[in-house]
Amino acid sequence: MSSRLLRGQPLAGRHVVLGVTGSISCYKAVELASRLVQAEAVVDVALTAHAAEFVTPLTFRSITGREPYLDMFRPHGEHGEAHVELARRADLMLIAPATASTIARIAHGLADDFVSLTALATTVPLLVAPAMDSQMWEHAATQANRTLLAERGVQFVGPAGGRLASGRVGAGRLVEPAEIVERVKARLGREHGDLVGRRVIVTAGGNREAIDPVRFIGNHSSGKQGYAIAAAARDRGATVTLISTAGLAPPPEVDVIAVSSHAEMFAAVQAACRGADVLVMAAAVADYRPVAPADHKIKRERAGDVTIELTQNADIIASVDEPGLVKVAFAAETDDLMENAARKLTAKGARLLVANDVTAPDAGFAVDTNRVTILDDRGGADELALMSKYDVGMRLLDRVAELLAEAR
Ligand code: PMT
Repeated sequence: MSSRLLRGQPLAGRHVVLGVTGSISCYKAVELASRLVQAEAVVDVALTAHAAEFVTPLTFRSITGREPYLDMFRPHGEHGEAHVELARRADLMLIAPATASTIARIAHGLADDFVSLTALATTVPLLVAPAMDSQMWEHAATQANRTLLAERGVQFVGPAGGRLASGRVGAGRLVEPAEIVERVKARLGREHGDLVGRRVIVTAGGNREAIDPVRFIGNHSSGKQGYAIAAAARDRGATVTLISTAGLAPPPEVDVIAVSSHAEMFAAVQAACRGADVLVMAAAVADYRPVAPADHKIKRERAGDVTIELTQNADIIASVDEPGLVKVAFAAETDDLMENAARKLTAKGARLLVANDVTAPDAGFAVDTNRVTILDDRGGADELALMSKYDVGMRLLDRVAELLAEAR
């Protein structure tokens, strides 16, 4: 098992070449470099002369701790063929921001600055995040170049829509650095992850059970834990389907199916699990629903006190019966955590169960951290410290990956 995954940090030690070309959004490349470094990647920055007009090489050197590549004719370190050496060492090359002319240069095999030179010399995955005015992006020449590069396997990240430097509103903004980093993780996961070729289904959020057209019975689940597991599975190379009731921003490169009630989640989980390898039920599923939801809003003045009769919902995870599927349950408890969790592990037919004390202020519902114990069907219990929900996902998937490897 790779140590970079154990620490929940899939970019640790990965070598990313960040090509920066001349655009007003160069300032965002500084944040991007910083985020990649914080994610423990080794980052080498290559700049065009135009990019260096917007942001100095010194800025990138200060952030990455490494000398940026700028001048093709000035020896860089020990290597005479610096671009070839850089291209060979990289795990991934990312050009952000990428101007129309850089996209054109790469599409047509021109190599007259350090960025296009390295892009031409490398065989590793190439991600391109364009930034330009919307008219330039929509121009037939740029679109033809984009198509050509996409056909050759280059992955485009954006551009995003919104207000541009010209004052125009349209497509052409550099995608936000946080999302670009997610795309880098996802791409490297597909290259090197231990869940490549696996289909992982994750549920997130709490169900809403209608009382009448305006009211529902719900719970406090925000969906954060499920989304974090989905992102972690994606970063390990899995094909991920997230079945969610939550309105959070969808994680890039994860297929999200929006549901609300228990009945909708039940149907979506049954369908998605066909042929899948893993089901992680992080959702806070509604155990009960009103027997007879009203067709019209219940009027306080007319109805007076109201009694709502509830009926039990089917157990979703227990009813999934897909051969070879590794089922992972959660248990959100307010008391007798370990006893209840152990009982649920068996009752749900799960291989693993994540026991979650939801009374602590820094764990459970709606916060970004969690403190859990992972139980397994062999009697093991792994008590984890407080950590981010993404790291919980990584630790859980370490266990899932072991189970999948055993079953081979
Ligand atoms: O979404 P967040 O705000 O990030 O919060 C995360 C969380 C606290 C919701 C999450 O970590 C968690 O604990 N999820 C499980 C909540 C829950 O419903 O626990 P439970 O003990 O009621 O259910 C046990 C397991 O059976 C769960 O995996 C549940 O998804 C599943 N279940 C429950 C009832 C039912 N009818 N069908 C089910 O499949």
